[in-house]
Amino acid sequence: MPPIMDMPTVKAPTARKLLTWYDRHRRDLPWRAKPGQAVDPYRVWLSEVMLQQTTVVTVIPYFEKFLALWPTVEALSAARMEEVLTEWAGLGYYSRARNLKHCADVVVEQHGGTFPGSAAGLHKLPGIGPYTAAAIAAIAFGEQVPVVDGNVERVMARLFRVKTPLPKAKPEITAHTAALTPKGRPGDFAQGLMDLGATICKPRAPLCDTCPWAASCQAKLFGDMDAFPKKLAKKPKPKKQADILYLRDAKGRVLVRQRPETGLLAQMWELPSSPWDETELPEGRPAFDLADIIDSRSMPNLVCLDKEVTHTFTHFHQRFRIWVGEVSGKVTAKEGAFLGDNERATKPFPTLMTKVFEAVEFSRGQTP
Ligand code: ADE
Repeated sequence: MPPIMDMPTVKAPTARKLLTWYDRHRRDLPWRAKPGQAVDPYRVWLSEVMLQQTTVVTVIPYFEKFLALWPTVEALSAARMEEVLTEWAGLGYYSRARNLKHCADVVVEQHGGTFPGSAAGLHKLPGIGPYTAAAIAAIAFGEQVPVVDGNVERVMARLFRVKTPLPKAKPEITAHTAALTPKGRPGDFAQGLMDLGATICKPRAPLCDTCPWAASCQAKLFGDMDAFPKKLAKKPKPKKQADILYLRDAKGRVLVRQRPETGLLAQMWELPSSPWDETELPEGRPAFDLADIIDSRSMPNLVCLDKEVTHTFTHFHQRFRIWVGEVSGKVTAKEGAFLGDNERATKPFPTLMTKVFEAVEFSRGQTP
């Protein structure tokens, strides 16, 4: 019989180790209460909604602006939807902004301005899914629930060398997180995990030498941290395109319109365009008919910009070919209106429209 080799092992990770590390290395973020300070559920909720699918660096200025404009849930509820969407412009995933406002209304009108104090209660509110409910419940109300975002998935997948690929591995990862989440300070534990994932257990080249759980990490032991988390190959995103129109009138106003009440970028504002789909664009002419967009005795010539704009959404890539024209004389828009710079500044335009405006402005700066 050959001798049985001892399998190398790791120490069991503990919440205590992570909390001690968090107390020394926690990131100073504007929505976090300082040690000893009372937690404001409004700030926690607002930050967690903004942080869905969005990085901390991007969120910070938006969080500060929202808090200055609307310091309480009552103030946010009293705001108009269009104002909220306009201030949200640039953050993306605009259904979050619509749900944010709806949620503020429900909290004020049905809960007397106080957020429900449990994950189960929070989950019933608009825009609060299981992750966000758990994060708010743990951070704002000290509920002992596992909080699993993308950073936490990576930490747990490496710590326990989870072989199942994501998203199938979610229940397994949640179970590991739940087993580690302490009764005391579950919110600090959750944020400690997030900070660990963001600053130490990074997607590439993790800084294992400074990790409080290095001696407990199975991937570290095997030296294959980069192989975790395992992920199913993603389906390629469809490529959509459209011709978009930047039409100015004699006063320098631009024709814009509001999108429908529901669907992609609902209620946001845009430039008129042909449908966004996978159809190839025609050579040498726009895919829209100007006569469907405006009534005018003299139809303007349209010039196609050299520069195209691209933007990636969750489920597809979008490309715009940009047509620029100037109308003189009497013109009426069949939909939308010609708005000047100041009026446009009060409307919510999504980032891909801002990119089109910038491309046109850039090209105007180029022409002598
Ligand atoms: N990502 C989501 N929620 C977060 C939080 N509370 N702190 C840091 N990053 C986060």
